[in-house]
Amino acid sequence: MSLIKTIEFDVLGDERGSLISLEQNRNIPFDIKRVYYIFDSAEDISRGFHAHKDLQQVAICVKGSCRFILDDGKSRESIVLGAQNIGLYIDSNKWREMHDFSEDCVLMVLASETYDEADYIRDYDDFIKAVNHDS
Ligand code: TYD
Repeated sequence: MSLIKTIEFDVLGDERGSLISLEQNRNIPFDIKRVYYIFDSAEDISRGFHAHKDLQQVAICVKGSCRFILDDGKSRESIVLGAQNIGLYIDSNKWREMHDFSEDCVLMVLASETYDEADYIRDYDDFIKAVNHDS
């Protein structure tokens, strides 16, 4: 089964432009407790390099593009996010890396929990131990 799970949002458009609506437990599969966005990341900068113990997220490139790598401890998959109507669903216990930010990239992330540093696994070896322990 693919690690990459995307959600395609309906684009509500008319002659004035396009609009996408994101609603918890409708097209976003959880209660949205936090929204953050990343911008002004240089193209040679990579981010992420962590997993979460108990957090669901949906990442949407609302402008520009970037590349995500997801890793479940067994395999790694990559996806370029570059369309405003595509969300990448990221479950708990998935190592994520973000690379190749376009200069204009604005990456918006919806999260199922408020920020909690204790929920992060920032060391890859600890991540591998955690997923092997769970399986
Ligand atoms: P971090 O999660 O390391 O960013 P990324 O995974 O995109 O590389 O977060 C960067 C900093 O911002 C770090 O000091 C934690 C802080 N932060 C918050 O305070 N609240 C948040 O919701 C997030 C995502 C990060």
